[in-house]
Amino acid sequence: MTIAPVQRTAPTGSSAWTDARLIMALEEVVETELNRHLKVAKDWMPHEFVPWSQGRDFDGVLGGEPWSLEQSQVTPLGRVALVVNLLTEDNLPSYHHEIATMFGREGAWGTWVHRWTAEEGRHGIAIRDYLLATRAVDPNELERARMSHMSEGFESDNSHSMLHSVAYVAFQELATRISHRNTGHSAGDPLCDQLLAKIANDENLHMVFYRNLLKAALEIAPDQAMRAIADVVTDFRMPGHGIPGFERAAAQIAIGGVYNLRIHHDDVLQPVLRHLKVMEVGGLGPVGLQAQDELGVFLGGLDAQATKFDERQAALLARRAARKAAQ
Ligand SMILES: [Fe+2]
Ligand SMILES: [Fe+2]
Repeated sequence: MTIAPVQRTAPTGSSAWTDARLIMALEEVVETELNRHLKVAKDWMPHEFVPWSQGRDFDGVLGGEPWSLEQSQVTPLGRVALVVNLLTEDNLPSYHHEIATMFGREGAWGTWVHRWTAEEGRHGIAIRDYLLATRAVDPNELERARMSHMSEGFESDNSHSMLHSVAYVAFQELATRISHRNTGHSAGDPLCDQLLAKIANDENLHMVFYRNLLKAALEIAPDQAMRAIADVVTDFRMPGHGIPGFERAAAQIAIGGVYNLRIHHDDVLQPVLRHLKVMEVGGLGPVGLQAQDELGVFLGGLDAQATKFDERQAALLARRAARKAAQ
């Protein structure tokens, strides 16, 4: 593995870091983080988490039993969230294209991009096998949704900037971790919970990789990195936003406590920002200071919005519980 010569100070003759220079300057950090990741990542076998003995032929070519809702043992919330999580994982070819184009396929960056892709591929395989073997969701609907979602592709909101891309994936990997974990807790099947905990663990390690990279970027190019963090945080959306029926699914997922504004603020944004000590970073120029201010104002507003959501959610759940009690 080759390491490009590291330049830790702003390039001479230029007031700003270009993406190419940043990629070169961060290669040493990427190599360190990649080695750390390979040391801590524990290999696991997706087939071990699938109860194959529950599987049976479907209708069609094999003339088996068609799918029907009563066969599904997972909760209605689990069904919705599992499909959103799987379709998000399914779009991996588009994500690979985006990150390989941005970070390149050479040296430590390339090794990371390929390794990350292989790990993400395991997630989709494991969830799909689990869903089909247990008849948890309608396989025809799932396949049609996959075709539709993948046919749209995925275009990153951040492909214009390397630092924006790194900042986005740092938050997005943690968001995915939390979403898988909470889906597992609410699916009503201990095996599903166990599988999603395993996947969530991988997502956490991905987050750590990108977060540490972002930390190094904040040291090398603090103004540009702060600007990127502020832009990404204030304009964040999940990669699965193009899934058919996403708005409706997202509303159910929010009310059910799998992923909502409160979780996004408390369990995704804050832990990364606190770790990076973003609000305490000193030595910023006007660009970085303005971004830091914007971030502070935005987070205050988001917390207030999350509190309003908490109140609406509590009222809705209380109404539902009262209706159920009256039946
Ligand atoms: Fe994943
Ligand atoms: Fe991931």
